[in-house]
Amino acid sequence: MLVQQNTKFFIIVIVLSVTLTLFQIQLTKLQEKLDKLGAYSHQDLDNPTNFILIEEFHESKPSSRSILRRLSDNTVVVYNRVPKTGSTSFVGIAYDLCKRGQYHVLHVNVTGNNHILSLNNQLQFIQNVTEWTEIKPALYHGHFAFVDFAKFGAPKPLYINLIRKPLDRFVSYYYFLRYGDNFRPHLIRKKAGNTMSFDECVEKQLSECDPSAMWLQVPFFCGHAANCWKPANKWALTEAKKNLVNNYFLVGVTEELDDFIGVLEQSLPRLFKGASDYFLNSNKSHLRRTVQKETPNSVTINKFKQNPVWQMENEFYEFALDNFHFIKRHTLRNKHQSFFYEKIRPRQS
Ligand SMILES: *[C@@H]1O[C@H](CO)[C@@H](O)[C@H](O)[C@H]1NC(C)=O
Ligand SMILES: *[C@@H]1O[C@H](CO)[C@@H](O)[C@H](O)[C@H]1NC(C)=O
Ligand SMILES: *[C@@H]1O[C@H](CO)[C@@H](O)[C@H](O)[C@H]1NC(C)=O
Repeated sequence: MLVQQNTKFFIIVIVLSVTLTLFQIQLTKLQEKLDKLGAYSHQDLDNPTNFILIEEFHESKPSSRSILRRLSDNTVVVYNRVPKTGSTSFVGIAYDLCKRGQYHVLHVNVTGNNHILSLNNQLQFIQNVTEWTEIKPALYHGHFAFVDFAKFGAPKPLYINLIRKPLDRFVSYYYFLRYGDNFRPHLIRKKAGNTMSFDECVEKQLSECDPSAMWLQVPFFCGHAANCWKPANKWALTEAKKNLVNNYFLVGVTEELDDFIGVLEQSLPRLFKGASDYFLNSNKSHLRRTVQKETPNSVTINKFKQNPVWQMENEFYEFALDNFHFIKRHTLRNKHQSFFYEKIRPRQS
């Protein structure tokens, strides 16, 4: 009898301790979860998107992997495209892939295609891009000069751009105004019907082929200072180079568009995953060719090469090319590079 009583008591004690231990484990897990949530809300108090993230954490309990993905979802890429550099092909890829890739592409249409934004529009653009979280991740593109987000106290977006050999770009633009392109063949261009060749125009020293009109890639990278837009201005060239290095995530060249897309795909997969394959296999790689284009003769070329506008634009192109090759070498050929942390102190207990 007594032995039976003892056994009963013993069993009760065992069941109780097991239950208690299980409870304890559950509690510890819950505490950990709470701590995690606390850490997130502290870090991200002043970032509204990340704040929304906490709500979602409660609802759908995503893995930490998807939280990281959500953080990269704040990416803003700004592509201030220089006219006649192959930008339409590139942007076309983004438009084709954005739905599947779950990001937005927006064209910034500035009145009269003006490359310089008024001060109020610079501020408005920066504020809108920064605060418009529902649209992120996003690629904004438009034909405007570099807008300095940091100067207005906003976080810098990832600027990208493409540039092209200056005389090629200039000649392409000249014929584009006359003959249009295969992208929108029925659109009547400004100089349609004018069949003068570029060489003839240069020979006659007409304003449309005046070398000073070639001053465009440098000011696009230089930005919104008065000096940027004064042709053959050494200060603008220096500033453009500085911006290219310090404020652009990546600048490629039209002549190596496939590699530009390759580096973007490798470094920003959130937006450009699958872009290389798509570029090679769709007909985007030869979209938008200016219809009638004659290569300028050697007299014309020599004339340009002696002009300081060409010289500076070309110096900038060579600078960008060299930098792009450097990045390409350390990125495309280093696909398997990785890094990790070690010797983390103090040790986590
Ligand atoms: C920009 O907007 C104007 C006015 O709506 C329009 O006529 C023009 O075609 C647009 N530009 C581009 C490049 O779509
Ligand atoms: C940004 O501008 C767009 C278009 O004008 C507008 O619909 C959107 O609400 C704006 N977003 C913010 C956060 O200001
Ligand atoms: C190539 O472009 C034409 C229209 O320009 C289109 O009909 C065709 O489907 C495209 N081919 C591919 C593979 O995208």
